[in-house]
Amino acid sequence: MITTDVLIVGTGPAGGAASLFLSTYGIDNIVLTRYGWTANTPRAHITNQRTVELMRDMGIEDQIIDKGTAHHLMGQTAFCTSLAGEEIGRIRTWGTHPRRLADYTEASPTLPCDLPQTLFEPILVSTAAGRGARVRFDTEYVSLEQDDDGVTATVRDRLSGETYQIRAKYLIGADGGRSKVAQDIGLPMAGAMDIEGSMNIVFEADLSKYVAHRPSVLYWVLQPGAQIGGIGAGLVRMVRPWNEWLIVWGYDISQPAPVVDEAMATEIVHNLVGDDTIDVKLKSTSVWSVNHMYAEKASKGRVFCMGDAIHRHPPSNGLGSNTSIQDAYNLAWKLALVLRGQADPSLLETYDAERTPIAQQIVERANKSRTQFGQIFRALGMTPDAPAGRTIESLKDDTPEGAAQRDELRTAIELKDYEFNAHGVELGQRYHSTAVIPDGTPEPAYERDAELYYHPTTWPGARIPHCWLTRGSETVSTLDVAGKGRFTLLTGIGGEAWVKAAQSVSEHLGVPIEPYVIGPGRELEDLYGDWSRAREIPDHGCLLVRPDAHIAFRASELPDDATETLQQAFTQLLGR
Ligand code: FDA
Repeated sequence: MITTDVLIVGTGPAGGAASLFLSTYGIDNIVLTRYGWTANTPRAHITNQRTVELMRDMGIEDQIIDKGTAHHLMGQTAFCTSLAGEEIGRIRTWGTHPRRLADYTEASPTLPCDLPQTLFEPILVSTAAGRGARVRFDTEYVSLEQDDDGVTATVRDRLSGETYQIRAKYLIGADGGRSKVAQDIGLPMAGAMDIEGSMNIVFEADLSKYVAHRPSVLYWVLQPGAQIGGIGAGLVRMVRPWNEWLIVWGYDISQPAPVVDEAMATEIVHNLVGDDTIDVKLKSTSVWSVNHMYAEKASKGRVFCMGDAIHRHPPSNGLGSNTSIQDAYNLAWKLALVLRGQADPSLLETYDAERTPIAQQIVERANKSRTQFGQIFRALGMTPDAPAGRTIESLKDDTPEGAAQRDELRTAIELKDYEFNAHGVELGQRYHSTAVIPDGTPEPAYERDAELYYHPTTWPGARIPHCWLTRGSETVSTLDVAGKGRFTLLTGIGGEAWVKAAQSVSEHLGVPIEPYVIGPGRELEDLYGDWSRAREIPDHGCLLVRPDAHIAFRASELPDDATETLQQAFTQLLGR
């Protein structure tokens, strides 16, 4: 029988990333997909800072940036009657407003970029393969059985029709929104599927003349019919600047799904572009539905689900593939420690505790964003409850009603910050589980809106704040110091006893811990003083950072026996 440590079903963002992380950590894995290659349509594209940070940790940030569309071309998001038609408003998105750019650049060593799934997945899967993953295409997961020692999966080779079995110590179900793995292990799901109907039309056309002066990845079209189904409004989305595009257009889910033939697709493209003379080369069409569903539990025994298998929602906020990759990052280091015998299997239970609240959060956020176009339509007089006489034309009136309408439109567009500049949602995840040791301090309050703004803190459970440090002539992020599949301990001058403690605990438990003293004359220096301002502990305190860059343990005092304190922390963290 074929055997492996981890069998991963799915080569999408979740499965591809899980394979990449595990392979990088030296864990044997097989990853399979029922198709002959990775995604064939460019669905996900917004790649947020956290995801770019994870790729930076994997040493492949340059590939992501190279293939992606750069941040400065992502943000002049327009609301218009069509690309050629009237422009009603614009919002600077994905942190491109000067004020928000400061927030984004202060929070991370990376910037978001736009990388279609069709380009991202091959990077994930090929890098994983290069690091030892065994990749099997045209291979369909059929069923599984688990016992105390492992999981036996039955899979079918779709080329020969033959079925065979793979025996794994753990199985990851990263098989998307219709996950058979999640169904087979009976994950409890909340919410509903298929609540709105939508279609994608991918096409090539040179639209530079309509977009060059307002480069963006999204152009929202507010036309009659644009509120039916879909994701809140008609969307012309850049796939590759500026000649490959994807239109999202809704349909009434209570009716049979439309057959989107060439004539219908071309007509929709011409309508949304507002120019029926453009030459349209259709690449693909598909119909899909909007879901509002999340798993209340993400695992059972030795089987863990991730990605769309546990959170199913519209693309609003661009959270799908990002969260899928981040799920994988959360589980991979835990699996690695357990498989190497460095942690008790109970560590794996923290995956559920840490990721299911996020699944719920993003499903609710994305669906709320979808409905928050309504105020824009109302401001334009396009909803039944809009004041009588309102039209796009009346926006231009020099009347009290015109002024009120303009105010309402500005407020309605500002509300879309919750979809396009939700930095807190993108970066601010804080974990609560037994893999985080509380230090007795209350959770720091959010000083600004928790969804719009990221609040850095070293409170246990939070991601380590990014600050630039120096190492000789090199500038490195605190996030560069952390990660790499191992624990990191950070202290300052006077905290050397923590370093000795880390070395002794590491030796005793056989778990790699990389300790650093940050300060003048040390390997890492805080020349800007940013780290001293951000770390929320004194020089002689310590932060223990998990392999996924979240804070596991924090101490403000240097105890009499730092080794004993750290040993106790690890005993809880690793369940040993
Ligand atoms: P995904 O569905 O991508 O992959 C599932 C994998 O499992 C595939 O490899 C499939 O072949 C395999 N599989 C399934 N069943 C199997 C079986 N029985 N046997 C073997 N293999 C099997 N997200 C985002 O972060 N930013 C964005 O900008 C957007 N934009 C966007 C636009 C549009 C129009 C859509 C429809 C979606 C988005 N998304 C998004 C969402 C994003 O596409 C989605 O969340 C991710 O693809 C989910 O990744 P997964 O790996 O979980 O599943």
